Amino acid sequence: MIGGGYVGLVSAACFAEFGLDVAVVEKDPNRLNALKKGNIPIYEPGLDLLVQNNIKANRLQFFETIKEAIPDCKAIFIAVGTPPRNGDGHADMTYVHQAALEIAKHLQEYAIIVTKSTVPVGTSRRIAQIIRKENPSLDFDVASNPEFLREGEAIQDFMTPDRIIIGIEKDRKDRAQKAQEIMSRLYQPLFQKETPILFTNLESAELAKYASNCFLAMKLSYINELADLCEQVGGNIEEIANAIGLDSRIGKYFLRPGPGYGGSCFPKDTLALIRIAQEAGTPSRLVEATAQANDARKANISGRIIQLCGGNVHNKTITILGLTFKPNTDDMRESPSIPIIHRLVEEGAQIKVFDPVGNEKAKPLLPNTVQYFDRINDAANQADALIILTEWNEFRSLTPKTLKNWMKKPLVIDFRNIYDPKVMKSENIHYYSIGRPLKE
Ligand code: UGA
Repeated sequence: MIGGGYVGLVSAACFAEFGLDVAVVEKDPNRLNALKKGNIPIYEPGLDLLVQNNIKANRLQFFETIKEAIPDCKAIFIAVGTPPRNGDGHADMTYVHQAALEIAKHLQEYAIIVTKSTVPVGTSRRIAQIIRKENPSLDFDVASNPEFLREGEAIQDFMTPDRIIIGIEKDRKDRAQKAQEIMSRLYQPLFQKETPILFTNLESAELAKYASNCFLAMKLSYINELADLCEQVGGNIEEIANAIGLDSRIGKYFLRPGPGYGGSCFPKDTLALIRIAQEAGTPSRLVEATAQANDARKANISGRIIQLCGGNVHNKTITILGLTFKPNTDDMRESPSIPIIHRLVEEGAQIKVFDPVGNEKAKPLLPNTVQYFDRINDAANQADALIILTEWNEFRSLTPKTLKNWMKKPLVIDFRNIYDPKVMKSENIHYYSIGRPLKE
């Protein structure tokens, strides 16, 4: 597994748990040392134990270089980062290409080289070219095996996925069969659980990952727009989400409105598909609109807060509960909390925040006047307004009575719809949530 980042580490630990011997290559020396000791540099429930157990069982090892790790490998996964390139929206393929070159230099016997990173269409064939050029006599195959792991639920998603997609060189029948056999062996435990495993051509697998993330992002931008519409004309977004979600053609998931999607995947992948489609001469107006709607939403949410605070937040104490882009992760990438807090600080608000695990990663990204707390009650003490930005479970159990006791003014602005408007109203809390009527 080339890359001990989020995808690489979760996949490596889970393959090891299947009983396979897995060698992970991590070139960052600090990260490598931590990993060798079983210390996980990311927050992912259950991952530390899985890594530690598999290190103990000698199935999981960590190396600094590709040269050390690959001699006995039959399958090599490339799971390095593909961040957006210098603002043009394309995925930066430098690390993927470097990995391919290193593999070509050091591989001596047959292996299948599989891309796990989210990569543009054509990458697997490009990897094959790089390897063939560097090491013309090497016997190898390429495959594309995109991951569909969600942060916070990655292990469960790996162990019980909805499906596995494996792209192989279908146009070369002699190669395709061998590739299919090896990939099937790796995923044998999931075959036994009757997980659908789709063997597609290389391009389909590469596109399927973008297609899936962009479709989900589209669903979110759509439900967010409908929620705004409800606020103007009187519908209730929860009833609407139920009503449309029960149509099995639509499906009930990813219909919870929020302050806009964030994370390392949807914003990056929508942008990448937009660029891929533009360059192919078939622009995707739907994905373009999805990304624009989400950017606008994240930028506008602070305006709503200011309006709900009476048009002005100068010198007001505002408590933010939840900083990460979603619960069960410490990931702050593209989190809606970042633009919201910056704007509120610019408008003169005093910001107090609490997040169960995100405070440390948030600090470099937020203005330095922001105050961080380790306890919810300290963060909410004497607040003029309390804002829910991430739906951590521990916020759900806060009662309106408790909130009222802590706060200076009973104003709760809930961008994740975790409280019941009726219960809030019964305690005379001025409560705003997304797309739900105040008077029911
Ligand atoms: C996403 C996909 O769900 C995974 O399948 C995929 O493997 C991953 O990207 C990736 O490409 O690596 P992730 O970014 O971890 O996973 O998070 P999601 O659970 O999909 O949430 C994304 C954003 O949508 C979050 O900001 C979340 O708050 C928001 N969201 C999600 C909503 O606002 N409402 C919903 O109903 C669901």
